[in-house]
Amino acid sequence: MATPHISAEKDAFADTVLMPGDPLRARYIAEHFLQDAQQITAVRNMYGYTGFYENQRVSVMAHGMGIPSCSIYATELITEYGVKNLIRVGSCGAVRDDVKVRDVLIALGASTDSRVNRLRFNGSDFAAIADFGIVQTLVQAASANEIPVRVGAFYTSDLFYHPDGELTERLRRYGVLGVEMETAGLYGVAAEYGAKAATVCTVSDHMVSGESLDSDERQTSFNQMIRIALDAAVR
Ligand code: HPA
Repeated sequence: MATPHISAEKDAFADTVLMPGDPLRARYIAEHFLQDAQQITAVRNMYGYTGFYENQRVSVMAHGMGIPSCSIYATELITEYGVKNLIRVGSCGAVRDDVKVRDVLIALGASTDSRVNRLRFNGSDFAAIADFGIVQTLVQAASANEIPVRVGAFYTSDLFYHPDGELTERLRRYGVLGVEMETAGLYGVAAEYGAKAATVCTVSDHMVSGESLDSDERQTSFNQMIRIALDAAVR
């Protein structure tokens, strides 16, 4: 069995899939956090693995960059492989003074400049919200690991290099914690196909102060976020 973008066997994925954007992050999670991890797909080098975490079966598969790429993988995982829970583990930018690089954020809901949810929701505005149960479990897992997390609003943009000079200020005023390129689409896909989804991100750069993490620092905060996501996946 295969889909246009995933070559895994039927039943190759666990019910819960962690999804980083970067395929090499997927490999890193499989090699450093899972036991007995097997690579189950590599179409376009978008690696997927299934292994065990605390004796429970968990998968990890990359989703690439942006809503279109993320939506393709999320849709095929849910509709063709029966995946129930998708946890995006990504990085994001921050705009507010009270959000710092290294912070771990959970996306309760995501506004967007993308039209995808209007396309699927017949022109109406769709409230792109996380699954409350996964969010609650992520918060509990963070607390058990004594890792501070913040839960709140995200903004998902189709443009990494955005021409709207007032965007950052507007997002600050509206209380947006994290800016990235997938979550509003992921939450729309999950709603459309009856799965559960949530995004957890580490802040890799501050869009106002210009501060950004070097690669070692990225790795350390990434590891903390993965611990939270995997603990949540098996709770
Ligand atoms: N926008 C701005 N900063 C970021 C993003 C983004 O999409 N992702 C990671 N840092």
